[in-house]
Amino acid sequence: MSTKQINVVDREGQQHVVEWSADQSLMEVLRDNDFPILASCGGTASCATCHVFLEKEAFPSSGDRSEDELELLVETDTYIENQSRLSCQLGFDSSGEGATVTIAPE
Ligand code: FES
Repeated sequence: MSTKQINVVDREGQQHVVEWSADQSLMEVLRDNDFPILASCGGTASCATCHVFLEKEAFPSSGDRSEDELELLVETDTYIENQSRLSCQLGFDSSGEGATVTIAPE
């Protein structure tokens, strides 16, 4: 199965290299690596506790946000137009090798 490494910046600003397997969503990668995201809806795009920021340059190739995803994100206090995504909606193809993902504040 293919894997790649990405960089995750935690809420303290620390950067971590983690491995992403093709069968995981980004939310699952974060959860399995013990980052403190609640993901309380289990990945159904209905809680926004898995909010992350992508790099501006990488954002366009991450795919389109659904109406539900965008609605949830816009309601958060930390929404950034061209960077905010729900990590549960991001599959393996949404980010490249070496991409940097920042976990949004709670
Ligand atoms: S886990 Fe709930 S919106 Fe992503």
